[in-house]
Amino acid sequence: MEIGRGAEAVITLEESAVRKWRIPKGYRLPELDEQIRRERTIREARITSEARRCGVPTPIIKDVLKFDLIMEHIGGQKLKDVITPALSEQVGEIVGKLHKAGIIHGDLTTSNMILRDGRIYLIDFGLAFHEGSVEAQGVDVHVYFQTLESTHDRPDELIDAFALGYARTQPGAEAVLERVKEIKARGRYL
Ligand SMILES: Nc1ncnc2c1ncn2[C@@H]1O[C@H](COP(=O)(O)OP(=O)(O)O)[C@@H](O)[C@H]1O
Ligand SMILES: [Mg+2]
Repeated sequence: MEIGRGAEAVITLEESAVRKWRIPKGYRLPELDEQIRRERTIREARITSEARRCGVPTPIIKDVLKFDLIMEHIGGQKLKDVITPALSEQVGEIVGKLHKAGIIHGDLTTSNMILRDGRIYLIDFGLAFHEGSVEAQGVDVHVYFQTLESTHDRPDELIDAFALGYARTQPGAEAVLERVKEIKARGRYL
């Protein structure tokens, strides 16, 4: 049964596991397309597990095939549909842990977060990478703030709540949140 479809992949539920199959992109040369899909599949498997070991809730990876990932099904609600300031504060805590561990998610939207049993799970690590710079962390947080601004009614409360949680787990939070303001201003004048 198909349970999700993103820009990159088809997600099906098979027994109690999820299969994420990266679909071919016809606009890429076939060899390059296979290389990219293969690389993102491996990257997603590796960093999803690494984040989990650092205390960030993520699905357990069960198997890695050529273009498919088999993982734990997180049956819950998309954060996009249920976000509150208290939940955004929790997002701040987990993103802070991720950044403290030197991982950048690369696509921090509320569609890539699932709420199950009061706990937020991060998914979709296909664009994640290792970097500890203030700039990379700032861009990651900026993407989250932009999603809040474009899809939720009162983004300011959600943004302030995130900052509280983020500062709790990320010792370098202050510099990153300052940088987010600069990144936003840069975007306006580009
Ligand atoms: N492990 C999972 N458990 C439950 N739902 C999932 C899981 N993985 C993906 N999904 C669902 O499928 C959608 C698309 O998956 P995602 O990994 O974000 O793919 P894409 O890279 O194409 O965005 C998600 O927004 C989510 O609703
Ligand atoms: Mg996604």
